[in-house]
Amino acid sequence: MFARRIAVVGSGYVGLTTGACLASLGHRVTCADVDPEKVDRLSAGRVSILEPGLSELVAEGLAAGRLEFVLGASKAVLDAEVVFMCVPTPMGVGGAADLVAVESVISEVRDLLPAGCVVVNKSTVPVGTAERMHQLLNRPDIAVVSNPEFLREGSAVHDFLNPDRIVVGSSAQDAAERVAALYARLGAPTVLTDAPSAELVKYAANCFLAMKLSYVNAIAELSERLGANVADVTEGIGYDRRIGQAFLQPGPGWGGSCLPKDTHALIQAADAVDFDFMLLRATIDTNTRQRQRIVTKIREACGGSLDGVRLGLLGLTFKAGTDDLRDSPALAVAELLRDEGAELTAYDPGVAGAVPGVTDTVRVVDDAYEVAKGAAGLVLLTEWPEFRTLDWARVASLLEGRVVVDTRNHLDPDVLRRAGLSWRGVGMQPVD
Ligand code: UGA
Repeated sequence: MFARRIAVVGSGYVGLTTGACLASLGHRVTCADVDPEKVDRLSAGRVSILEPGLSELVAEGLAAGRLEFVLGASKAVLDAEVVFMCVPTPMGVGGAADLVAVESVISEVRDLLPAGCVVVNKSTVPVGTAERMHQLLNRPDIAVVSNPEFLREGSAVHDFLNPDRIVVGSSAQDAAERVAALYARLGAPTVLTDAPSAELVKYAANCFLAMKLSYVNAIAELSERLGANVADVTEGIGYDRRIGQAFLQPGPGWGGSCLPKDTHALIQAADAVDFDFMLLRATIDTNTRQRQRIVTKIREACGGSLDGVRLGLLGLTFKAGTDDLRDSPALAVAELLRDEGAELTAYDPGVAGAVPGVTDTVRVVDDAYEVAKGAAGLVLLTEWPEFRTLDWARVASLLEGRVVVDTRNHLDPDVLRRAGLSWRGVGMQPVD
C-alpha cells in the first residue's frame, strides 16, 4: 500500500475520525481547524468528543508522527496529495444544506493546492456540489471526488474501520480510484460511480434509515392498539434478510445532527426538480407525531393532566453513547411536557451540569436517583445502558408516584414490577 500525504479540513467528529483512522491505516495526515484552542488541545492529544477509541487513535497517530494538527486549511494542504473536506453543512434557509463553510475553504485553498492533488468531499452536500466545487476551484489539474461518510456518532471509529461499503464518485476515474485505494486495507465492497450518484447515496441512505424508524414507530403504535407486542413483531420481520434486525427499535422519534437535516435537505432537493417526495414527507410527519404520542402516553400514565406534575427524565441526548443534544427527541419531548405544565428534573450520563437552552426547560442533576426524588413518575428518553442496572427498589423508595414510562423499551418490566413500579413501554402492553 502507498502511504499518502493527506490533509483533512475540519476536526469535528467526522474530520477527526477520518484523520485519526487514515493515520492508523499508515497515511500521513494533517488535520486543520479554525479554532486555535482546539488545535492546541488536539496537538496535546486531548480529545473532548465522546467517541470510543478516538483518543487512543489520536495519541497513536501523534506518537508515530503520522498525525498532526494545524491552524487553518491553508497550512494543511501545502504538500497534500489528497484533501478531505469535512466541514459542517448545517440546515440552511428552507431546509437545504448550507454550503458557506465548504465554499469558504475552497476560496482559501484554491491557489495553494499542489498540482494534481485530489479534493475529496466527505461532508453531506446536495447533489451537484462536487461539480460546483470543481467550478469554484477553477483548477483543471485538480479532480473533485465525492466520498460520503457513514459514521454514526458514538461508534464512528468502529464504523470507519469496519465499513459496510466505501462509496467514491467522480467524473475523473483515476482520481476516484486513488481515493478508493486509501481504504484498500479495509477490504470493504467499493462502489465506484459518478459524483452525483455518490452524493445521492448519502441522502438516500440516511432518509431510508429515517423511513425505517418512522415505520417502526407507526407499527409500535398499531401494536399497542391491536394488542400485539412490537418487540416480537420487529424480531419477526427482522429475520427476513431483506429487512434486517438493525434500526427496528421504536423510541421517542429519531433525531440528531444528521437524519433530521438530511431528510429536510432531500425534500428540498426533490422540490427543486418538481418531485413531490410524499414518502419522505410522511416519514418526517410521522416523526413529529411520535413525540406528541409519547407525551400523550406520559399524560395518560399520570392520570390525564401534566399541570404541576413533577417528572424525572432519564436521558437528554439524541441517543446513548454521545453527549450530543442537537435535535434530540428527548429534548423535544421535554419541551412539550413543560408546555403542559410539568416540572422536570433530568439526568443524562453524557450531559454535565447546566446546558444552555436546556436548563430553562429542565433542571439538570448529576445523579439518576436525584431525578427520582419526589417525582410522580420517571420517563426514560435515552437508552443509556446504566439505566438498566439502577437499583430499582431504591428508585421506588424515592419516587412519590409508581409509574415509569420507558420510551425506548429499554428496561426490564419484570425488574420494575418486582420493585413495585408500573412499566409503560412503546408498542407493548403495560406491566403493573
Ligand atoms: C446517522 C447514520 O446512522 C450514519 O450512518 C450517518 O453516517 C450519520 O447519521 C451521518 O449522516 O453523519 P447518527 O446521526 O450518529 O448516524 O445516529 P443514528 O445512530 O443513525 O441514530 C439516529 C436516531 O435514530 C437517534 O435519535 C436514535 O436514537 C434513533 N434510533 C436509531 C432509534 O430510535 N431506533 C433505532 O433502532 C436506531
